[in-house]
Amino acid sequence: MIKAFIFDLDGVITDTAHLHFKAWKWLASEKFGIVIDENMHEQLKGLSRMDSLEKILAIHHLNQKYTVKEKVELTTTKNLYYRKLISDITPRDILPGIVELLEEIKGSSYKLALASASKNAIAILKSLDLFQSFDFIADAAIVKKGKPAPDIYLLAAKGLSVAPENCIGIEDAVSGIQSIKHAHMFAVGVGDKRLLHEADYVVSKTEALTLPNMMQAWNNSLV
Ligand code: BG6
Ligand code: MG
Repeated sequence: MIKAFIFDLDGVITDTAHLHFKAWKWLASEKFGIVIDENMHEQLKGLSRMDSLEKILAIHHLNQKYTVKEKVELTTTKNLYYRKLISDITPRDILPGIVELLEEIKGSSYKLALASASKNAIAILKSLDLFQSFDFIADAAIVKKGKPAPDIYLLAAKGLSVAPENCIGIEDAVSGIQSIKHAHMFAVGVGDKRLLHEADYVVSKTEALTLPNMMQAWNNSLV
């Protein structure tokens, strides 16, 4: 029986995924002279700040060139750039249908948690006026292994006191869907069906993400 919904943030609740990419694109060109493309955008989605940097450095086998301290400085520089991009975010930046969906979930007595890899998640939720909507927000800073590991989704389920098999996770990233599946939850993808083929159910955009659709898909998965 489904008792809870666990949401990713960037690219599901608000369209910040492309802003992360814009900031990485800037850093890669500015600091390493690397041009990163759309394909890399998909691969970076969902990854922690440091895992994203390592992936970019790996393009030209530069991972060993920088010390841990230098890498931390590079991620901080990216984050400062990213913070500027999200400085004027408001509730108008919530993706279509999400406010109604969160209200419907809460109104139907399901529990609601956030499982974002972003250390900016709380600040963004506050800017979107959604901070109070969640029963639990999993803290990316205390999670040992980032997505695609299950840790953040398991932490969210634990925070809600709900067993993972009673949760539905919602994600826009391949690594995020893998994280949900590794946590043994029902995975809903938002985006391209071919990319998110490991999900149990995929919608192309947030407008199509409704409670009845998700419950129907979950019911169908039982037969
Ligand atoms: C995820 C994004 O939600 O958060 C990633 O999809 C990002 O692109 C990650 O790298 C970490 O975010 P932050 O805000 O802590 O740098
Ligand atoms: Mg995402």
